[in-house]
Amino acid sequence: MRFLLFVGASNTLAEFEIETQIKSAKLLQPNVYLIEAPTALSAQTTVSKLGCSIKLAKELVGVAPSSASVADLVTFKNFSVTCLDNFQTSASLNQEIKNLLQKGRFILPKEQFGLSPILIKKHRIDEFFVDQQREEVWQTLWVHDYQHWIKKDRHLPFANAKAGILPPKIARSMVNLLPFEPAGKLLVDPFCGSGRLLVEASELGYRVGGSDILAEQVRETKANLDFLEIEAKLEVLDATHLSDLFHEVDAIVTEPFLGKPNLRPDQIRYLIPGLQKLYLGCLKDWLKVLKSDGYVVMVFPSFDTGKHLYKTSTVIDGKLELSYNLLKRGIMYSRPNAEVRREIVILQKK
Ligand SMILES: C[S@@+](CC[C@H](N)C(=O)[O-])C[C@H]1O[C@@H](n2cnc3c(N)ncnc32)[C@H](O)[C@@H]1O
Repeated sequence: MRFLLFVGASNTLAEFEIETQIKSAKLLQPNVYLIEAPTALSAQTTVSKLGCSIKLAKELVGVAPSSASVADLVTFKNFSVTCLDNFQTSASLNQEIKNLLQKGRFILPKEQFGLSPILIKKHRIDEFFVDQQREEVWQTLWVHDYQHWIKKDRHLPFANAKAGILPPKIARSMVNLLPFEPAGKLLVDPFCGSGRLLVEASELGYRVGGSDILAEQVRETKANLDFLEIEAKLEVLDATHLSDLFHEVDAIVTEPFLGKPNLRPDQIRYLIPGLQKLYLGCLKDWLKVLKSDGYVVMVFPSFDTGKHLYKTSTVIDGKLELSYNLLKRGIMYSRPNAEVRREIVILQKK
């Protein structure tokens, strides 16, 4: 069976998350992928684990892309049809369907992406996508659980949008850069902050553990995890001494200390050696923590002063090649207007 997967436009990790989690996915147009699965339920189960997924539509095989055949499928009072091949014709097609039904209300899409999940759920809208050239019809069958994502973003005991806090969907995508089945695996975040990565890893089925150099941060993580009834081993610890606490770990996924915020451009070059020393110290210690073949998914900050781009990820070049394989680098994530760009690097212990 074929499905259209719609992904969040602001999630710059989407491409890499999908590449890791759904090998056969093909990009059809910006933010829309074609995926195949044996059943609707299996497609839904797969995409609901992703951080980037927003909506899933199923191909209606044998349904003609005409107003009459789509009208036959409308069951709710509200419906919406988006023409994928010729977006401008969406308005007339919706009107024709309403005329045929002689009841109901249509909601016009503003773009080829169709309607937002909130609109679809709140107003119980039957949503269809039609491609007249390819003679295809698709119907939305799943939208992401936006209430749960909002709860994790804004309503945890410690959910203030402080600098350095990862949005839950980005944290989920970051965990999904790990190319294995989570069940039973142990994942640790040694710079756990308020525990965003641990929440997402636990919801995917990982056993989780975390530490932070600040007791206050460990308390925040504990409160957030308790609120969601997630169990974890948590300690106050310097990340360069993670091996005092954890062994036989399958994966370390982390956004480390990124340096003091709001530095002047002339101060940034003095920040880089300190950060690189910290990251190198961590990666050396984590060799004692990880199982062989264990993974590290880690953010390395870059700073653009306008005159110069300082990349902390250069610290891995040449220094760690005897101990880690470099699987991927250059996966970029940054918040709007952020002065720090984040580069995600994936390493595997040799
Ligand atoms: C960028 S924040 C992590 C935020 C986390 N990803 C989140 O979304 O909540 C970095 C964290 O590293 C901690 N930290 C700084 N230096 C550390 C060190 N040497 N060892 C362990 N934690 C450290 C800070 O207290 C802070 O909580």
